[in-house]
Amino acid sequence: MVSFAVLFGALSLFQLGAALTYNTFDGDGFPACYNVSKVYRPSTVNEIQSIVKDAASKGLPVRASGNGHMWYDTMCSDDPNTVIIKTDAVNQISDLVLQNGVGSVVVEAGATFPQVAEWLHARGASLSYTLVNWNITIAGAIAMGAHRSSLREDSQVSSAALALDIINGNGDIVHLERDQTNDTWLAATTSLGLLGVIARAKIAVVADFKVYSNQTILDEEDVLNADLYEQISPYVTANYWWWPGQKKFHLRTYGVVPIDTWGNAFQSTFSVTDVEGNLALSLLNSGQNASLPNFATEAVFYGLWSAPNFHDKITNLPLLFWPVYGYAYDVLIGGLYPGQKPEWDYNLHGKTLELAVPITQANALLKRVRELFDQSAKDGMAVTSTYRSGINIKFGKPFDSFLGQTTERVGNRTADWSKGAMMFDFPSFVPTTGDHHRYNEAWYATLAKTLIDEFPVRPHWTKNTRDIFRQSVKNLDQDSLNRFAKVREQFDPKKTFRSIVGEIIGVV
Ligand SMILES: Cc1cc2nc3c(=O)[nH]c(=O)nc-3n(C[C@H](O)[C@H](O)[C@H](O)COP(=O)(O)OP(=O)(O)OC[C@H]3O[C@@H](n4cnc5c(N)ncnc54)[C@H](O)[C@@H]3O)c2cc1C
Ligand SMILES: *[C@@H]1O[C@H](CO)[C@@H](O)[C@H](O)[C@H]1NC(C)=O
Ligand SMILES: *[C@@H]1O[C@H](CO)[C@@H](O)[C@H](O)[C@H]1NC(C)=O
Ligand SMILES: *[C@@H]1O[C@H](CO)[C@@H](O)[C@H](O)[C@H]1NC(C)=O
Ligand SMILES: *[C@@H]1O[C@H](CO)[C@@H](O)[C@H](O)[C@H]1NC(C)=O
Ligand SMILES: *[C@@H]1O[C@H](CO)[C@@H](O)[C@H](O)[C@H]1NC(C)=O
Ligand SMILES: *[C@@H]1O[C@H](CO)[C@@H](O)[C@H](O)[C@H]1NC(C)=O
Repeated sequence: MVSFAVLFGALSLFQLGAALTYNTFDGDGFPACYNVSKVYRPSTVNEIQSIVKDAASKGLPVRASGNGHMWYDTMCSDDPNTVIIKTDAVNQISDLVLQNGVGSVVVEAGATFPQVAEWLHARGASLSYTLVNWNITIAGAIAMGAHRSSLREDSQVSSAALALDIINGNGDIVHLERDQTNDTWLAATTSLGLLGVIARAKIAVVADFKVYSNQTILDEEDVLNADLYEQISPYVTANYWWWPGQKKFHLRTYGVVPIDTWGNAFQSTFSVTDVEGNLALSLLNSGQNASLPNFATEAVFYGLWSAPNFHDKITNLPLLFWPVYGYAYDVLIGGLYPGQKPEWDYNLHGKTLELAVPITQANALLKRVRELFDQSAKDGMAVTSTYRSGINIKFGKPFDSFLGQTTERVGNRTADWSKGAMMFDFPSFVPTTGDHHRYNEAWYATLAKTLIDEFPVRPHWTKNTRDIFRQSVKNLDQDSLNRFAKVREQFDPKKTFRSIVGEIIGVV
């Protein structure tokens, strides 16, 4: 099998001898789609329409893809005739309007967060809090319901969408305007790519602004027993990193400061030097068959994470003390430090699990996870965090979208989502050795099953395995699924845009 290679010459659909594997950002060994027949890389919205028309006329499944920044084999259906439309070259930004501090901008399918953020910054505008980490397309984030972390501000990316142009199963553009009372809009704001290709998005922007980022260390019991709503909601955005082996949390908070505040802080969660990358890999691999090395590695990571993971954007010097100050995008998201590479370039690959729970049940969920950690120790196979920033705990203000993680709509699993949600995001290192199993692999499955069975949790749409989606269906609202499926049927009666996720939740 040939590995993913971008093929140019958009409309020449010649037959290849072998199927292509389309990988996630992690590269070889991490398929997003096992077998696809072709990867197109168009440069205009018109070209995308032509590809969809051509494929639909031949009965070939189509999936759009931005930068493949997702974790598992859930992008496509398992049909080897699938064609991928890689959107990164369709990335125009236009129509900026900014009046009295608020406005909008139109971005094409392949425009990424850093690209749009830089463009807006040069024009005195900013993406507000609906930002997502890393080099991800805004359209891909809208499709999959991606979010940052806030109980006070809207932080799901699609909450900033004012209008969407979607290329449906006929290859026609359907223009939608925001209307939170309309089923089509409620489907389009977390469409899972099943309505078609999001070709353009008009998104809300605000005047450029600066924020501080501050961090403190809390004892585990002071978080597990805290009123988390009280602890998080005062901040424009905030999150925890949990270090279960240390019995500690980092609490990171952000707030607005005057635009003339000194500082050019630039964050990177993923930048590593050659030395760090190679050292981390050998440390982490050594914990594949033994518990203790994982706790030792966690202690090292915990120490490193206590200092700001920020550089000065202009001098590239590390910032050593909290709080740090800078432009919102640079502080909240940032990017790679000059001269460094992302961790996955050093074979530091991860698996993850992300589930949202109503904030009213957040303490109970965290305590249950603590019990499971304790159980692993009692069983003589103690598990802890093997990720360089620990276990990430995020939050979400309610946002209504049929398939959104923070919608208040409930089905059989009733729960109060009105105060918002906590997202439990548990990344873990995948060893490069042996069969790539993690230490006490069975424990991870027990964790997921326990949380899904005991809490009304909803899955993040690109951070979970097929098996997690299967288990989670019982927690989804059947009425929302039915109404989503009706809209999907109108957009794409021939099921050109189907995916494994759509099939598992029964909307295709
Ligand atoms: C390092 C890293 C950090 C991340 N941080 C966060 C975070 O902070 N919060 C969060 O919620 N998520 C986060 N994610 C997940 C990420 O936001 C989603 O996986 C997002 O969908 C990836 O977008 P992409 O542009 O790379 O799209 P891809 O990964 O290429 O595609 C993801 C899915 O969206 C579909 N899709 C992509 N583009 C379109 C389009 N134009 N029209 C229709 N469907 C489309 C694809 O078919 C696929 O099913 C992170 C991922 C990584 C790798
Ligand atoms: C991919 O397609 C090939 C034939 O082209 C087939 O042999 C193989 O089993 C397929 N793999 C998967 C995982 O579907
Ligand atoms: C981000 O993605 C774009 C394509 O969308 C690519 O050109 C660019 O090199 C990427 N940047 C990084 C830092 O990976
Ligand atoms: C909902 O929006 C769609 C698409 O814009 C439109 O066709 C439909 O008439 C709207 N429905 C209602 C009930 O307004
Ligand atoms: C940063 O956090 C520390 C520890 O909680 C606190 O003492 C300090 O006042 C905070 N600073 C700002 C600017 O919020
Ligand atoms: C862990 O054990 C497996 C065999 O069970 C082996 O293949 C693998 O190499 C071991 N990992 C390390 C880091 O020694
Ligand atoms: C919800 O409950 C009904 C009645 O018990 C059942 O038939 C249905 O399958 C359940 N739906 C889901 C999604 O579990």
